[in-house]
Amino acid sequence: MKMSNWWNKLVYRLWAPIYDATINRVFVAGRTQAIRMLSPEAGERILLVGVGTGADAALLPAGARAVGLDLSQDMLSVARRKIPDCRASICLVQADAQVMPFCAEAIDALVLNLILSVVPDGRLCLESALRVLRPGGRVVIFDKFLPESNGLVPLYQFFNIFTSLLGTDITAAFRR
Ligand SMILES: C[S@@+](CC[C@H](N)C(=O)[O-])C[C@H]1O[C@@H](n2cnc3c(N)ncnc32)[C@H](O)[C@@H]1O
Repeated sequence: MKMSNWWNKLVYRLWAPIYDATINRVFVAGRTQAIRMLSPEAGERILLVGVGTGADAALLPAGARAVGLDLSQDMLSVARRKIPDCRASICLVQADAQVMPFCAEAIDALVLNLILSVVPDGRLCLESALRVLRPGGRVVIFDKFLPESNGLVPLYQFFNIFTSLLGTDITAAFRR
C-alpha cells in the first residue's frame, strides 16, 4: 500500500495513546545515539521533523530551541504533555513535513527520526527539510531503509503490505 497523509492521520490517531509504551521502546537506543551524533547545543534552532510523541524533544539540551512538526494532532497532544519536563524550549506545529511552513535557512540542525519511511514522499520531505536548513547546518537521520543489495527484497515487499497499513514503509531505499 502506498503511504498517504489521510491514512497516516488515521493510523497515528490509533498509535498515539500506545506509541510510547510500544514502538518507542524498540527505538530508544537508536534515537539516543542519533541525538548524540547531532550534538545539539544551547542556542541552536532545531527542527524535529515528524516529532510524534516528542521522544527526541526530551533528549535535547537546555538552551536549545526546537520546533516539533507533525501531521497528527493526536501525536502532538501526547508530545505537548511532555514539554514541561523538557530541558530545551519546544514549540509544536501541525503541518505536512513534505511542504514545511518555515523560512529558508532558518534552522541550524534537523532531526529526521523515523519520518522518511512514513511520509508519502520521503524525497519531497528531505528536500523540504533541507530548504529550511542553513548552509553548514547539520542533519541526523535515523530510520529503516532497505539495504543496497538484498536478495530479501521480495520478502520485504510482502511484509510491507502489513507494515504500511500500520504506518511505516519498510521498502524505502535511502538512495532513492
Ligand atoms: C513512526 S512515527 C515517528 C515519530 C518520531 N519521529 C519518533 O522518532 O518517535 C511517524 C510520525 O510521522 C508523522 N507523520 C506522518 N506523515 C506525516 C507528514 N506528512 N508530515 C508530518 N508528519 C507526518 C506521524 O504522525 C507520526 O507522528
